[in-house]
This record gives sequence, C-alpha cells and structure tokens, in this order.
Amino acid sequence: MNSPSSHATTLLVTGGAGFIGANFVLQAVADGLRVVNLDKLTYAGNLDTLASLQGNDRHVFVQGDIGDRALVAKLLAEYRPDAIVNFAAESHVDRSIDGPAEFVQTNVVGTLGLLECARDYWRGLEGAAREAFRFLHVSTDEVYGSLGDEGQFTETTAYAPNSPYSASKAASDHLVRAFHHTYGLPVLTTNCSNNYGPYQFPEKLIPLVTAKALAGEALPVYGDGLNIRDWLFVGDHCSAIRRVLDAGRVGETYNVGGNAERTNITVVKTICALLDQRRPLADGRARESLITYVKDRPGHDRRYAIDSSKLQRELGWKPSQTFESGIAATLDWYLDHQPWVQRVLDGSYRMERLGQ
Ligand SMILES: NC(=O)c1ccc[n+]([C@@H]2O[C@H](COP(=O)([O-])OP(=O)(O)OC[C@H]3O[C@@H](n4cnc5c(N)ncnc54)[C@H](O)[C@@H]3O)[C@@H](O)[C@H]2O)c1
Repeated sequence: MNSPSSHATTLLVTGGAGFIGANFVLQAVADGLRVVNLDKLTYAGNLDTLASLQGNDRHVFVQGDIGDRALVAKLLAEYRPDAIVNFAAESHVDRSIDGPAEFVQTNVVGTLGLLECARDYWRGLEGAAREAFRFLHVSTDEVYGSLGDEGQFTETTAYAPNSPYSASKAASDHLVRAFHHTYGLPVLTTNCSNNYGPYQFPEKLIPLVTAKALAGEALPVYGDGLNIRDWLFVGDHCSAIRRVLDAGRVGETYNVGGNAERTNITVVKTICALLDQRRPLADGRARESLITYVKDRPGHDRRYAIDSSKLQRELGWKPSQTFESGIAATLDWYLDHQPWVQRVLDGSYRMERLGQ
C-alpha cells in the first residue's frame, strides 16, 4: 500500500509466525515494508520460519495475544502502522472439533479486542494517515458451508458454517463487517480457499501426506476421499492480500481462489506420484499402495469451490501457479527443507524462541 508520508509503510501483522502469515511477512519485508509481527506462538507459531529475518530492522517480532488490549494499544501507539493484517487464529478444523472453546477465544473474542484497539487508534489519526488506514481480516471460504456438485461460492453466498472452526471465523467476519458499518472503521475481508506451500504445519493434508509418504508410512484419507477443495498456492494468497490492501474498496469482501478444484484422493495420489519420481521407495513400491481410508471427519463438508472473479476483474489479481506447478514446487521445497520439517515433527521448534 502507498504510505501517506515518507516513512516505509508499516504493517501490524498478527499471526505472522504461522503458515500463511509468515509467508506474507517474508514477502512484505523483502519488498521493503516494515512489519511489526504480533504472534502468541501457539503450537502453530514457528520462529524457525522467520530465521532469515533475524537482525533485519524492518521486522519486529512481539510475542503476545491479539486479545491483549493493553499490548495491542501500546504497539499501535509506538509503531503507528498504516494497516493491520489479521492472520492470527486457531486454524485446524479437527482441533476445533476436539476443543472449540480456544477457537472462540482467539478467533472471536481476540478479533473483537483487536478491532476495538484498531478503531481507537484509527480515530486518533488525522488527514492522509486516517484516510489511508486499513484493517484487513484474513478469512476462509469455509464460512460459506458445503456445496453440491454444481456452483461456486461468491461474495454474496449466505454464510452457513458447519464446523466450530468455520463458525468462529464466520463470527469474526461479522464483527469486522459490523465495525465498518457501526464505527466507520475502514475494513477489508478476504475469504480464501485451502492454501498449500512452504512452511505449512504438518497436521494439514499436503504436508502431512508428504511427510508420511516420504517415510513410507500409511497415508490416511478421510471417508471415500472424494471431498473436494479448491487449492491455492500460499504465495498467490499473499499477493492477493497485498493487492486488496493496496486497492480494495473499503467495506468490501473479496473471495480468493485458485480455480483448482481437486478431490482429496487426487491430491494424495499426485503427491505419491511426484515423490515416487523424486525419491523412490527402497523396495520399489508405488506410494499409492500406502493409502488407507479412515473414518470420516464428523460434519465433513463435501465440496468447496470459490469464484474469485471479483478480485480478478476489479483489482486485476490472478494466481501465478496452477495446482500442478504449485504442488511440484511445494514438494521440492519440503525435500530441500527437511531440517525445518524435522524440527516441527520432533518438537524442537518450540524449544528456541528466537528474536526475543
Ligand atoms: N490455511 C488455510 O488453508 C487457510 C485458508 C483460508 C484462510 N485461512 C486463514 O488464514 C489465517 C492464517 O492461517 P494459517 O494456516 O497460517 O494458520 P496457522 O495455524 O498456521 O497460524 C496461525 C498463527 O496465529 C498465531 N496465533 C494463534 N492464536 C493467537 C492469538 N490469540 N494471538 C496472536 N497470535 C495467535 C499462532 O501462533 C500461529 O502463528 C487464519 O486466520 C485462517 O483462518 C487459512
């Protein structure tokens, strides 16, 4: 986004030690922006991902909770950001089934605290700085519920969340909307499909299957494997957020997607085939033989498909990767970064807290 004064554009990014947030932060800092990165460092936060930013004065890491109003107000007063980008969330559907309360606490109550601090800070800005300020909330297509064989989610699709995770994200989206309509806060919301790419926590489908397939272990697939998701390369999600931050119309929501619907079983078989080419198993078995169907997730949405034509038409964004190019690049990244993966799998990524 364009800075109203001569200082480098400053973003307060929340959840910037997580998968998408960290990809976003690495890109933003590389592009010359200054980032204040507020992250609670739950199990999903990983400072290893940000190691290349150590000593870089355009990145300030702060361990803390988005719901800590005193801390957020202090950061806003001290760093005077031009925008807030809210990635911080509990993000894993299976965990939300086991323990929904944490999802409400961070995704709903935490977002409310952040919004109140943003509103108070924005009210204190003047002139061009007030005009330019944005609060961008990063959300998911899962708020729209499940589709049948036909159709796609658009920005006007009614919300119908089915998991505690998506319900908590839907609630936060509504609060963001309400802060615009009630207080005039200049908000933007993006609703994105499933992301994949470097630095994803290996509890999610693609890194999980990659780790297990590399080790020659059984590959669990829920139900009949025919649930469909739209897949987007994480770098393309980050470029969409930057574009919306720069040029999105205040108060609007933008769907972000890769136009890459795949069944889960297709995703798993693609990973198997690519790994068989790159790292054949010692006994010569095809990794597809490792696929094991397991009991379906309760309330498992059948199909998500997202229409991102508003973002493409109005703001000129388009994804740079197809699913085929993105998944191949992702697998190569995981093969080249096994120490990063191993430190997550053995838990040692939590032992060191760099940058504090
Ligand atoms: N992963 C996807 O496919 C996807 C798709 C669409 C939207 N999203 C949304 O994008 C955002 C980021 O997703 P992700 O996959 O990178 O998640 P992630 O779980 O990898 O990272 C979340 C980060 O938020 C931090 N965090 C959690 N609670 C916090 C709190 N109370 N205060 C401060 N920090 C906190 C964690 O430490 C972690 O670093 C989420 O809001 C998610 O709903 C994700």
